[in-house]
Amino acid sequence: MDRLKGKVALISGGARGQGAAETRLFVNEGARVVVADVLDAEARQLADEVNKKAGTKVALPVHLDVTRAGDWRAAVDTCEREFGGLDILVNNAGILNVKGVSDTNEEEWDAIINVNQKGVWLGTKFAVPAMKKRGGGSIVNISSIYGLIGSGGSAAYHASKGAVRLLTKTAAVEYAPDHIRVNSVHPGVIKTPMVDIFAEKELDAIAALAPMKRAAHPEEVGYVVLFLATDEASFVTGAEYVVDGGYTAV
Ligand SMILES: NC(=O)c1ccc[n+]([C@@H]2O[C@H](COP(=O)([O-])OP(=O)(O)OC[C@H]3O[C@@H](n4cnc5c(N)ncnc54)[C@H](O)[C@@H]3O)[C@@H](O)[C@H]2O)c1
Repeated sequence: MDRLKGKVALISGGARGQGAAETRLFVNEGARVVVADVLDAEARQLADEVNKKAGTKVALPVHLDVTRAGDWRAAVDTCEREFGGLDILVNNAGILNVKGVSDTNEEEWDAIINVNQKGVWLGTKFAVPAMKKRGGGSIVNISSIYGLIGSGGSAAYHASKGAVRLLTKTAAVEYAPDHIRVNSVHPGVIKTPMVDIFAEKELDAIAALAPMKRAAHPEEVGYVVLFLATDEASFVTGAEYVVDGGYTAV
């Protein structure tokens, strides 16, 4: 239960869905976690839950809008002030719509690119100096299978998640000398509030496109993120981990 003993993690979009699953997994493995989200009440509730279970302060909620540099600066400061540093960043916050190229308006395009793409760049930019002070770190960027293949809809989402894939690789090259590893994770269909935009039948049909013919639980992605966060992944950087029940294998 000590795979992350002594480590401090910041998880963006940590209040619910996959981010919440990762918060619980990380704390179980000995990390202290800053739960950073725009959903303040949910972040506080999750932090209360894990702190109560641990009997000590292992999680801290902070307000973070990933599109705002000032919020990132404050969130990283909180990691250093409250928990003594920052070792792990999970750039997990994301938003989705299903609109294709022609149906997307400028405002919708900017909103998705700002959260999913700019947010990952800002998080990396502000986390790196703190990680350098610790002698290294691990950054895990949550992309998607939609960062690898097309679907015919969700144009801005695909563009943002594809960008995350390559931002990951160039950051891995840039920060390898600083012992900071940077990897991307590409989930398939995962049962979280994000996919509530689909009717149940619609979601089942999308999930059935994968050979495993089901959606995943958030923890099934969380365990891969956990591995990448630990020192067990010490030679893994610039890599892309698909967690999709075989969706992109066919
Ligand atoms: N659920 C899926 O099927 C699926 C598949 C592939 C990739 N993903 C990706 O996984 C990640 C986690 O999504 P999820 O499935 O847990 O969905 P979710 O909607 O449950 O969680 C997303 C979290 O991001 C937060 N968030 C949104 N905008 C934010 C902002 N501006 N600043 C800070 N936080 C913000 C939300 O409040 C929420 O807590 C996302 O990057 C998503 O694109 C999800």
